[in-house]
Amino acid sequence: MEQEGHLTAVQAASRLADVEQDVLSHHTYRHTGAELTAGARIAWRNNPLCVGKFYWRALEVRDCRDLVDDPGDTPGQDREAAVFEALVEHLRLSWNGGKVRLLLSVFPPDLPGLPAARVWNSQLIRYAGYRRGDGTVAGDPDSVRFTDAVLRLDWRGKGGEFDVLPLVVQLPGREPRWFDLPSDAVPEVRITHPDFPRFEELGLRWHAFPTISNQRLDLGGLRYPLVPFSAWYTCAEIGGRNLSDVNRYNRLPQVAGAMGLDTHRDRTLWRDRALVELVAAVLHSFDRDGVSIIDHHFATKQFVRHEEREAKQGRACPADWSSIVPATSGSTPPAWQRRYEPTRALPNFSPHPAWWQAEGRD
Ligand code: ARG
Repeated sequence: MEQEGHLTAVQAASRLADVEQDVLSHHTYRHTGAELTAGARIAWRNNPLCVGKFYWRALEVRDCRDLVDDPGDTPGQDREAAVFEALVEHLRLSWNGGKVRLLLSVFPPDLPGLPAARVWNSQLIRYAGYRRGDGTVAGDPDSVRFTDAVLRLDWRGKGGEFDVLPLVVQLPGREPRWFDLPSDAVPEVRITHPDFPRFEELGLRWHAFPTISNQRLDLGGLRYPLVPFSAWYTCAEIGGRNLSDVNRYNRLPQVAGAMGLDTHRDRTLWRDRALVELVAAVLHSFDRDGVSIIDHHFATKQFVRHEEREAKQGRACPADWSSIVPATSGSTPPAWQRRYEPTRALPNFSPHPAWWQAEGRD
C-alpha cells in the first residue's frame, strides 16, 4: 500500500537518477520540501539524546533555504539581518502564545567550497554569564565563554542574573554580527511555588522553551549548519539541572532557605527536598502562565511507548541512557530498568562547534 508522501519505486528511481545527475554536474543537489521534512523527522528519531522522540512525526519543518545566501542577491543587502529576522520569526512561531510548537527551521546547507550562515549561540535564547573579579559568576556559568566572546564583539551586558544574550550571526568570510532579541520573542516564566510564598523572593525565572542551535543536520550527504529546533521543556531540565546544578545557577541553598530547611547537615536531605520542590515550582509556574511543559514521568512513559512502537516497525531505538533517565527521581520511571544502545544512524543531528570555538578565538 502506498503511504502518504511516499514515492513509488519508479518515482524513487527517477528521483535518484536526477540527484545523481545534479551531483555529477554541480557536486551537490537540492532536497525537495518533502525530503527535508521527512529527513528532519527521521534525524530526530535517530538521535540518541532526546527523550521526546515519541512526537517525531509531528515535527513541523520550516523551509528558510531561500531567505539568505541566494548567490543572486543584491549587493549591499543586509544578509546577517535577514538571518536574524528569520530566527526571530522562528521564536515567535514556536512560542505560539504559550502552546509551544515542535518546530525546526532549515537554513541553507553548506555548498561545495561555500559554507553557509551560522550562529554562534548554542540555543537561540540563553542567559549571559559574567565572570566577576573574585572568580564567581553572575548569571549562567554555562554561558561564560560565549558571553566573553560577545563582549569582545562590543556587546554591552547589564551584568544581571538573567540577561538574554544577543544572537551572533556569521556568514562565511565576513565578520560576525550580534543582534539583541526583541522582548516579545523571548517569553519567560517567573518561578513561584503554590505552598512556599518565599520562592518568589528568590527572583528565579526561565525562558519558556528551548531552541537548540548548535547542532547540524546531516541529511542525504548534505550538511545544514543552521537548523534551530524548538520544543517544550520537561520541568526537570529547568528545576533539576539549569537552576540547581552546582556548575549552573546552583540555587538549592537559597531554595532550602526559602523552605526553612536545615542546611547544616547533609542528613536532613535538604538538597533532595529543595530539588523536588524547585521542580514542582517550575511545573506550577508554567501551568500558571499557560505555557506548555511536561513532567519527566510523562516524558519517560512516552519514550517507552515510542520504543515499543519502533520495535513493532522492526526498528531499533538508538538512545543514550544517561540522557533518557531524568535528572530528578531517576529511578522512578521505567527507563531506569532498561538498557539502550546509542547507535549512530543517518540522517541525524550532530554537535557542530561554532567557528569562534573551533578556531579557538576565545
Ligand atoms: N536541557 C536543555 C535546556 O535546559 C534543552 C534541551 C532540549 N530540551 C527539550 N525539552 N527539547 O535548555
